[in-house]
Amino acid sequence: MQAVILVGGEGTRLRPLTYGTPKPMVPLFGVPFLERMLARLRDAGVDHAILAAGYMPQAIEDALGDGSRLGLKLTYVVERSPLGTAGAIRNVADQIRETFFVLNGDVLTSLDLRAMLAFHRERGGVGAMHAIQVDDPSAFGCIVRDGENRIESFVEKPRRDEAPTNEVNAGTYLLERSVLEAIPAGRNVSIERETFPALLAAGERLYSYVTDDYWLDLGRPAQYRQAHDDVLDGKLVLETPPVLGDRGGTIYTIGAAGVPENVRPPVFIGAGSSIADSAVVGPYAVLGEKCTIAAGAHVRFAVLWDAVSVDHGARVSEAIVATNVHVGREAVVEHGAVIGHDATIEPGTVLEPDARVAAPGRVPTEAIS
Ligand code: GDD
Ligand code: MG
Repeated sequence: MQAVILVGGEGTRLRPLTYGTPKPMVPLFGVPFLERMLARLRDAGVDHAILAAGYMPQAIEDALGDGSRLGLKLTYVVERSPLGTAGAIRNVADQIRETFFVLNGDVLTSLDLRAMLAFHRERGGVGAMHAIQVDDPSAFGCIVRDGENRIESFVEKPRRDEAPTNEVNAGTYLLERSVLEAIPAGRNVSIERETFPALLAAGERLYSYVTDDYWLDLGRPAQYRQAHDDVLDGKLVLETPPVLGDRGGTIYTIGAAGVPENVRPPVFIGAGSSIADSAVVGPYAVLGEKCTIAAGAHVRFAVLWDAVSVDHGARVSEAIVATNVHVGREAVVEHGAVIGHDATIEPGTVLEPDARVAAPGRVPTEAIS
């Protein structure tokens, strides 16, 4: 079984994190998100994943290589300029032999891929689309279907008051090879805005595979933090391998025994991180490896990557902090702040709500446009 994973987006909404790490490689409890996705695919019987890349492809390849460590074959196809979500699939057509999965590279879900395949085999048609119900469909692709789950129309990112349903495209498809022929080659094509509507207009059968799985698009800061909270709350169990803690981290759940007095569960503390006795960490703090939290500092409702140091009396809350950041003494990093790799927050600084801070000189170096 083969899968195409769309990982070519620039991750604009996650900037400045994505100046240093491409979106699919942002860590989730110390492990790149894409690595977790590939493990799920492998467990579902996928033995060949094709990564349709464009933005910072080298960072992906450096970490995942040929896939042998993960137990499946990885092929990288790099777009010189962005081909769009369907153009990227058309661009790898010569590698595809049979019915294949397509995954948006930023979707965290408990979807049972084998069950979806069984659904598609039973229904037939040119494809199946995983769908979920959301309160606000305006950030997603909206699905209208009949009683047999056959999709009648598809509207990408409708205005909230014009959305025909609350059922949306959850970013996992099963497609037949014949779909490749419906995508024009050599130009940017959106599967959502062009290919799906064209297939439907041509009378092809596409089915909506609706589930009530855990589902989150990690592509925005609030959602990326939410994913961590949900794992800490047990709403999503991360599958094995890799498991929580297999890199030496510790997860403290509510009610756990042996929790240090200054740690307020639920929290995750990566290997080699140190917390001063008078610092407070948690609740809902996730620390990567080798972080240092100094005396009197507070870290809660926050995700810190590796080698972050939080100096005396500083406060980090409702924030995401990338690798190798220094938060100076008494600084306040709160209310939706996102701090990019290698940045320094000067002592005493109080950041504005939703502040985005990048280190000087940290700009996208491999952007495809
Ligand atoms: N190779 C390649 N080339 N990949 C791309 C390109 C491209 O030109 N453009 C986007 N991608 C990848 C992104 O990296 C991401 O993994 C995926 O395609 C989807 O792009 P997003 O930018 O994250 O789209 P979205 O979240 O706004 O909307 C999409 O996902 C929703 C579910 O999360 C759509 O598919 C919606 O219909 C859907 O509801
Ligand atoms: Mg997305």
